[in-house]
Amino acid sequence: MLSLGKCLQTGARLCKSRSIASLSALSETHQMLQKTCRDFSDNELIPIAAKVDREHLYPAEQIQKMGELGLMAVSVEERFGGTGLDYLAYSIAMEEISRGCASAGVIMSVNNSLYLGPIERYGNEQQKQKYVAGYTDGKTVGCFALSEPGNGSDAGAASTTATLRGDRWILNGTKSWITNAYEAGSAVVFATTDKNLKHKGISAFIVPKDTKGFTLGKKEDKLGIRGSSTAQLIFEDCEIPKENLLGETGFGFKIAMQTLDAGRIGIASQALGIAQASLECAVDYANKRIAFGKPISKLQAIQSKIADMAVSLDSARLLTWRAAWMKDNKKPYTKEAAQAKLAASEAATFCAHQCIQILGGMGYVSDMPAERHYRDARITEIYEGTSEIQRLVIAGQVIKELSS
Ligand code: CAA
Repeated sequence: MLSLGKCLQTGARLCKSRSIASLSALSETHQMLQKTCRDFSDNELIPIAAKVDREHLYPAEQIQKMGELGLMAVSVEERFGGTGLDYLAYSIAMEEISRGCASAGVIMSVNNSLYLGPIERYGNEQQKQKYVAGYTDGKTVGCFALSEPGNGSDAGAASTTATLRGDRWILNGTKSWITNAYEAGSAVVFATTDKNLKHKGISAFIVPKDTKGFTLGKKEDKLGIRGSSTAQLIFEDCEIPKENLLGETGFGFKIAMQTLDAGRIGIASQALGIAQASLECAVDYANKRIAFGKPISKLQAIQSKIADMAVSLDSARLLTWRAAWMKDNKKPYTKEAAQAKLAASEAATFCAHQCIQILGGMGYVSDMPAERHYRDARITEIYEGTSEIQRLVIAGQVIKELSS
């Protein structure tokens, strides 16, 4: 299989299946990347997505092929085995992969932005050699452990503790809702090193899966994205070497927040993929289904739904690409990432809902992908910050901007 770098050099043919308007802002490199990922989705992911969902199967073979293509470490430096592309490239790739299989999308997203992202940004050279380089090829993935049974949105209230004893940190506590939990080789874990300091007492650690005292809870039985595993990480006197502290002591909350800013662009892009798949499914069906003597795509009631889907999708895509552009150009992008995540996740829910409405009864049964898109879309409004949290982040930033 050609790596992304090779595909881009050899000049793959440009993607014809997107409107010219949505492509015109993209460079030739980004268009070729889009085409490569779209083909991969059509050939490798769409054929297995229903089975992955039905049987709760981790798509190991496809994730490995994505690793060979360079998709499991899109913006990681090449010297660590990454593809070295920008975040706009990552967003485009994520959308295309999620259009084929939203489970593959979230597995890719967590590895790229929540696991590799913070280690590449805050890790020292040894940590990068050990915990980035081995996680770029799709054979092993990583995970990110912030939420706990008692706190999801209130991320600063972490109750998992890390205590320094000699040259070891001792972790105790439980982390919840951890994507990739079962397949991950290592986790970025947030724990409090000083409860009195609240969020300023949180630190980040890299914890390899085979560490004594680190076990997994049961796999959650989820509504959607059923090909990715979600479970608790349980730490009971789990000892890790002192050097597994990521960044400085007490800097963990900032690491988590900055990591989530980037992660939200990834989830926004996953949501775009689900919305795009819903739109394509709806149009395909509307062109084939005859009612009142003509394809239902000729009926104004259906056209109106398709128009609303296209507007919500394209506006969310522009917000997502803007957030990626701001990150690539080293501008603050907390607000823009939250706007993108809010708009794209709501677009995914809306488009999946309308897709079922257009398909009618056929949308409600598993013979068609519409009901899967509907179930997969729902989580994008919850993980990496609920829509309510995105609104809080956006309002906070807007009020700050306009009050200064
Ligand atoms: N970048 C850098 N620093 C940030 C920041 C950001 N985006 N957001 C906040 N901070 C800093 C603030 O500047 C402040 O710093 P100082 O103490 O130095 O002044 C500090 O963090 C505390 O800020 P707040 O008072 O705003 O913090 P808060 O406790 O009120 O919480 C919040 C803010 C936005 C609600 C935050 O808790 C949050 O984002 N919650 C949602 C958590 C979330 O998204 N969880 C998802 C888990 S991951 C997941 O879903 C996993 C998966 O597997 C897919």
